[in-house]
Amino acid sequence: MGESKRAEKILVAVAWPYASGPRHIGHVAGFGVPSDIFARYHRLKGNDVLMVSGTDEHGTPVMVAAEQEGLSPRELADRYNEVIRDDLRRLGLSYDIFTRTTTQNHYRVVRDVFRTLHEKGYIVEHTAMGAFSATTGHTLPDRYIEGTCPHCGYREARGDQCDNCGRQLDPIDLVGPRSRIDGTAPVFKETSHLFLDLPAFADALREWIDKQAHWRTNVRRFSLNLLDELIPRAITRDLDWGVPIPVEGYDGDESGKRIYVWFDAVIGYLSSTVEWAAARGTPDAWRDWWQNPDSRHYYFMGKDNIVFHTVIWPSMLLGYGEGGEIGAGKGKLGLPYDVVASEFLTMEGRKFSSSRGVVIYVKDFLERYDADSLRYFLTIAGPESQDTDFTWAEFARRNNDELVATWGNLVNRTLKNVHRHFGEVPAPGQLSDADEQILAAIEAGLASVGGEIENARFKAGLTEAMRLATLANQYVSEQAPWKLIESDRERAATILYVALRCVDNLKLFLTPFLPFSSQALHELLGYSDDIAAKIEFVEHAEEGDSHLVLTGQYESLRGRWRASELPVGQKLLEPEPLFRKLDPEAVVAEELQRMEETAAGGAD
Ligand code: MF3
Ligand code: ZN
Repeated sequence: MGESKRAEKILVAVAWPYASGPRHIGHVAGFGVPSDIFARYHRLKGNDVLMVSGTDEHGTPVMVAAEQEGLSPRELADRYNEVIRDDLRRLGLSYDIFTRTTTQNHYRVVRDVFRTLHEKGYIVEHTAMGAFSATTGHTLPDRYIEGTCPHCGYREARGDQCDNCGRQLDPIDLVGPRSRIDGTAPVFKETSHLFLDLPAFADALREWIDKQAHWRTNVRRFSLNLLDELIPRAITRDLDWGVPIPVEGYDGDESGKRIYVWFDAVIGYLSSTVEWAAARGTPDAWRDWWQNPDSRHYYFMGKDNIVFHTVIWPSMLLGYGEGGEIGAGKGKLGLPYDVVASEFLTMEGRKFSSSRGVVIYVKDFLERYDADSLRYFLTIAGPESQDTDFTWAEFARRNNDELVATWGNLVNRTLKNVHRHFGEVPAPGQLSDADEQILAAIEAGLASVGGEIENARFKAGLTEAMRLATLANQYVSEQAPWKLIESDRERAATILYVALRCVDNLKLFLTPFLPFSSQALHELLGYSDDIAAKIEFVEHAEEGDSHLVLTGQYESLRGRWRASELPVGQKLLEPEPLFRKLDPEAVVAEELQRMEETAAGGAD
C-alpha cells in the first residue's frame, strides 16, 4: 500500500524558539513534540519529509535578555542557541535542519523577500508615533512597554500584543503606557517606518482561509476574524539588532533601524530550506518543497503565534509571488497546508514565569527524567486542544500507571518469558481464533494510529496505541503462557510468538511518540538497525563564520510503517525495563522544593 503510492513532499515547519533563554516544557509542548511525532510518522510512512527550524535571534526578546545578562545580543544568542539545540536533541526532535537566524544565508533570503515586496509596492512608508524613554531619550522597543489593552482591559498587555485577547497592538494603543525598565511613561515622537500592506491581501487571504476546512476550528475562526480588522503593519523598528533594511534611507548602521524580528523569523522557514539544500550539495533542491504545488506544508506552534502563520507569512508569500533573486521566476512559493497550533501549558496551576520560579526548563527536566516520559505526558495530557496544567503528581502517576504498568509491563513479561524459555523468537504452531483476533486487532493500528497522526490528533493517536497495548496485555493475561511452558511447550511458544508480534507492531506505532524506548525495544527484539533516527550536529561554514546545525540520517527509516514480520529464530537480548517507575511522593516533594528555591534565587 504505502510502497505503491508516490512519496509526498511534506514540509514540517516548526516555530523558531527565541534564543533569549533556556526553553521550558511549555514551549516544547507547543511546537516541539507534536511536530516531531508528525515528522517521524511521515518518514516511516514513506514520505519525503523536511523538518526545519532554528533559533529566533533578533529583536527585543533577545536584546532585553542580553541587557539583563550583561552580554551583547550576539553573545546571548550564541549562548542560548547552543543550550536550545542541545535540549532539542536530547528530547529527540528529529529536525532535518535546526539552524539560526543570524546566518549570512538567512540575511540574504530575508533581504531578497523584503526588497521584492518593496519593489512590488506591498511595502509602504508611513510615519508613526514611536515610543522613546523619557529618562534616556533612547527608543523603547514594543516589549519594553506595558499598559492596559484598549480592547479587553487586560492590565499587563505589552506594546506588541495582548496576551489576554491575543490582539496585535502598537505601543501607542495602550492605555496608561509605562516603561518596563523604570516605570516612567514613554514619550511618543514621530518616526518613519516601512509597513507591510496587509489590507492588499485581505481578499486573497479570505478566499484561501475559507477553503481550509481541515484546519482546527479555533485556528480558522481566529484567522478569519483577524481579516476584518487588517491594517498595514510596521515591519521596521528603531533598533540596531536585526537584519538591515534593503531600502534606500533605511539601510546601513546610521539609520538606526532594522527589520522587525517577526518579519525575518517567518522567512526562516524558507531560508533554512535553502541552507539545507546547499549544504547537501543540491542547491536547487529547496524548490521541490517551495515551488512545487504538490508539496504540503505543515506548521507547528503555540497559539500566540497563529496570526504570523495564517495572515502575515501568507501575505508575504503571496506578495513575493514568483519574484526575487531566490524565487527566480520558477514558480510561486507554497502557502501553508495546515497550521497546527497548541494551547498553553500552565505549571501547577500558574502561568510559566522564570522570574517567579514557575518554570521547568527542558534541560533540568531531562537531567532527572527520561525524554520519553516527558514526551508521553505532553502528548497524552498536554495542551493539544485546550489549556492544560502540568503537575508533578500527574506526571508521576501517568508515568507509573500508563507507561510502566501498561506498555512497559506488556513488553517486560513477554520478553522475559521468551528470553528465559526460548532465547529467540519461537516458531509458532497452529494459530487459534484468539491468536488471529489479537493480531488483526493490533495490526489495525497501522490505519487507526496513523490516521490520527495524519490529522494532527496526536493525543488520540497515542490513546489508540495505548488502548491496543491494553488489549495485548489482556490477551497475554488470559492465555497465561507461563503456565503452559511445562505442560504444552508448543502452545506456550505460539502464544509468546503472537505476543511478540503484537509488541513489535506496538513498538512501531509508538516510535513517533516514544523514539528512545522504541529504539531500545527494537534492539532487545534482536534487530540491529535503527527504527528511530540518530540526531547529530554538523557544522555549516559560511564566509569567515560557521555554525552548528541539528540534523540526522533518516533515509533508512523510510517506508517502515507496515505490519511486523518478526523473523522466527531471531535472538533476543537480555531484557531490561524500558521505563523507570517513579516514587510520586518523592517526586512531588523534591520538585516543589526546587521550584521554591528557584523562586527565591530568581527574585530581584
Ligand atoms: N520566536 C517566536 C516565539 O517563540 C516564534 C517564531 S516562529 C517563526 O514565539 F515563525 F517566526 F519562525
Ligand atoms: Zn486585550
